[in-house]
Amino acid sequence: MKLIFLGPPGAGKGTYSQALVEQLGIVQISTGDILRSAIKEGGALGKKAKEYMDKGMLVPDDLVINLLKDRIKHPDCGKGFILDGFPRTIPQAEALEKSGLKIDKVINFNVKDDLIVYRLSGRRVCEVCKTAWNINKGCVPIPKDPKKCDKDGSPLIQREDDKPEAIKKRLEVYREQTAPLIDFYKKRNLLADINASNDLPKIMQEIRKAIGIKSF
Ligand code: AP5
Repeated sequence: MKLIFLGPPGAGKGTYSQALVEQLGIVQISTGDILRSAIKEGGALGKKAKEYMDKGMLVPDDLVINLLKDRIKHPDCGKGFILDGFPRTIPQAEALEKSGLKIDKVINFNVKDDLIVYRLSGRRVCEVCKTAWNINKGCVPIPKDPKKCDKDGSPLIQREDDKPEAIKKRLEVYREQTAPLIDFYKKRNLLADINASNDLPKIMQEIRKAIGIKSF
């Protein structure tokens, strides 16, 4: 199964992908995670990506398209994948189409801006193991101590692009460059809309229904 998870920042694309890949035995491909690993490695690509990401802007298309093309050649993609955060622009979607890969479904997550800001402002990431937590009530998963990772006790930090100015910019960028993909995939009869303001079990139930698989 080859799926695209589309939606604004903080809609929960990463959270729902992780929950689903276990059930389907497929892989999650997050271009955001790939870029953050490149930044950690400290090479030229990572340095270039960081300039854009910290400000909440999109990394240039050619760079992301090449990263994605390399990633989907890996053998672990054989059973299928969820593209989490790709494509994010029309040129990226066109490049994916030209590659000849047949996408089964595009899940579009709808959430209001105030809930996005609430979710993203509470997200904290473990400095060491990179596990994501959330310190805001009603979000998941909540760490026992808002300053420490439950898994390894390391400090929790806030992503640079989860700070208020960058969140504002990411929402603008989403509306200008990513939202046009909704029509792009609607025209291809691939789009399924999901209300991502609900709680996690309800959203997972809706996703499974949209892609035609049974709940646990
Ligand atoms: P990326 O890491 O992909 O960021 P994003 O799309 O902005 O996504 P997020 O991870 O912020 O949100 P999400 O929808 O995955 O939500 P999550 O599950 O984490 O990209 C970062 C940057 O990389 C981009 O800004 C750009 O610069 C660059 N980039 C990446 N891909 C690119 C591309 N293709 N082209 C160009 N540039 C690219 O959830 C958020 C929080 O809310 C979590 O704490 C979660 O636990 C909580 N939460 C979510 N859903 C629920 C729920 N239903 N109930 C309770 N809590 C919830």
